[in-house]
Amino acid sequence: MSVKETFSPRINVIREAFAYQSRFTGSTMIFKIDFPVTTSSGFQYLMKDMALLVNSGIRVVIVPGCKEWIDAVLLDHNIVSEYSGSERITSESAIPFVEMAAFNVATRYMTALSASRVDAVVGNFARARGRGVINGVDMKYTGTVDKIFTQAMRRILDMGVIPILPCIGWSPTGKPYNVSSNEIAIAAAEALGASKLFIVTAGDYLKKDQITIPEHTRYTTEGRILRLNPREAEEILLLNTSGGETNNDREKCLAMIRFALSAFSGGVERVHIINGCEEGTVLNELFTNLGAGTMLYADEHEAIRGIHSSDIPDILHIMEPLVRQDILVRRSAEDVQKNKDDYVVYVIDGSVHACGALHDLGDGQAELAALASDKTYSSMNIGRRIVYYLIEKARDMGMKRVLVFTTKTQDWFELLGFRETSIDTLPRQRRENYNYKRMSKIFALNL
Ligand SMILES: CC(C)(COP(=O)(O)OP(=O)(O)OC[C@H]1O[C@@H](n2cnc3c(N)ncnc32)[C@H](O)[C@@H]1OP(=O)(O)O)[C@@H](O)C(=O)NCCC(=O)NCCS
Repeated sequence: MSVKETFSPRINVIREAFAYQSRFTGSTMIFKIDFPVTTSSGFQYLMKDMALLVNSGIRVVIVPGCKEWIDAVLLDHNIVSEYSGSERITSESAIPFVEMAAFNVATRYMTALSASRVDAVVGNFARARGRGVINGVDMKYTGTVDKIFTQAMRRILDMGVIPILPCIGWSPTGKPYNVSSNEIAIAAAEALGASKLFIVTAGDYLKKDQITIPEHTRYTTEGRILRLNPREAEEILLLNTSGGETNNDREKCLAMIRFALSAFSGGVERVHIINGCEEGTVLNELFTNLGAGTMLYADEHEAIRGIHSSDIPDILHIMEPLVRQDILVRRSAEDVQKNKDDYVVYVIDGSVHACGALHDLGDGQAELAALASDKTYSSMNIGRRIVYYLIEKARDMGMKRVLVFTTKTQDWFELLGFRETSIDTLPRQRRENYNYKRMSKIFALNL
C-alpha cells in the first residue's frame, strides 16, 4: 500500500521550531504552575516537556502554586483561614501545615521530573520578611519576598537541574513565611533576568467569550486571544471593571492580566498563559508562531520593516501559493533584489509572514504590488496593515494616488477604499506596460 507523502506543513513546523530553539538555548524561563494542574492527566506530559526543554539547553525554574492544597490541608486540621482582601492571613497554628502542604506539592514535581530523568532541587531560594500590619490588620506569618538567592540558583541551573521554589520564604533568622507563589515567580524572573514567565493554568484562558476585549484584539477562530501588549492589557482591565455580575472566568482572566502587568514592571518582557492540563501546550507555545496560549509582551514582537536580501527566499515562499493560483505575477529573486527598497515585510517574532511593495510610477502615482500574506495567519489584519503602511509611505513620498492591479482581490481592496479606474488614467509608461493577457482590474485610492 502506498502512502502519500506530505512534507510541506511538517517542514514548516520543524523550521519554526528550530528557529525558536536556537534563540532560546541558554535562556531562563520561569513556570508558575497552578495546583490543579498537578492533579490533571496532563501533568506527566507537562513534566516530560520540561525535561525536553532542559535537555535542549533552556534553564527551567518551577514555582508551584499551592493555594487549593493548602486550603485542603488546613481544612483537614480544622484551621479556618482569615483573609485580608484576597490574601490569606497565615496564623501561627497554620504555618507548620502551610509548610507541609507547600513541600508536599514540591515533592510531586520532584517525583514526576525523576520519572522523566531530569534532576530537580527544592530549595530555600527565597528570603522573606513579614508583611507586618497593613491597614490595622496583622498579616502574621504571611510574608513578602525580600531577596532571591540567585547565586545558588544559577549554580543549579548551570548543572542542568531545575530549581523548585515552594511558596515559603525564610527570614534571616529562619522564621518561615507563607509567600504568594505569583510574587515568588515574578521576583525570581526579575532576579534571574528570565526571558519568559509562564502562567500555567488548569483551563483555557484567555478567551474572547470570557472577557470584554477591545475591537482590535487578535484572537483565533476558537476565540483564543493571541497576543496583548501592555496598552491592550490595561484597556481590557478598564473595559471589565464596570462591576456587574461576578463571573469566575472573567475574574481569573483579569487576575492573570494583572499578574502579567506586574511582571512587566519587574522587567519581564514576555508572559505566556497556557493550559497545563492539555498535552503539548508548552512546546506548542514556545516553538510555533501561532502558539497555544496567550502571549503578553512588553517588547517589540511584530513589526513592518524594509527588507534585507536574506528575506527574499521567505518572500518568494509566501508568494508561491498565490502565484500558483494566478493571483500574483511570478517574481524572481533578482526582480525582488532589484526593487529591494520598494518592499516591506511583516515580521512576527523574527519570521516573515507577509510582504508588499510600493513602486513609484512617476507623475505623483505609486503602485501597490506584490501583496501576499501567509495563509496560516489570515484574518489577523496583517494584509490590511501592510496596505495601510504602504499608503502612509506613499503619502510621505508626496504621492497623489495609489494604484493596484488585481485579478481576484478587488472586493478586498474596495473594502479598504480603493475604487476601480480605467487604464487611461495611468501614467504613460505603466499604460504601455499593461499586460493585456492578464487583464487585471485597476483600482485606485486618491490620497
Ligand atoms: C487579501 C489578503 C492580503 C488578506 O490577507 P489577511 O492577512 O488575511 O488580511 P486581513 O486580515 O487584513 O483581512 C482579512 C479579511 O479579508 C477577507 N478577504 C480575504 N481575501 C479576500 C478577497 N479576495 N475578497 C474579499 N475579502 C477577502 C477575509 O475573509 C477576511 O475577512 P474577516 O476579517 O471578516 O475574517 C491575502 O489573502 C492575500 O495576500 N491575497 C493576495 C493579494 C493580492 O491580490 N495581491 C496582488 C495584488 S497586489
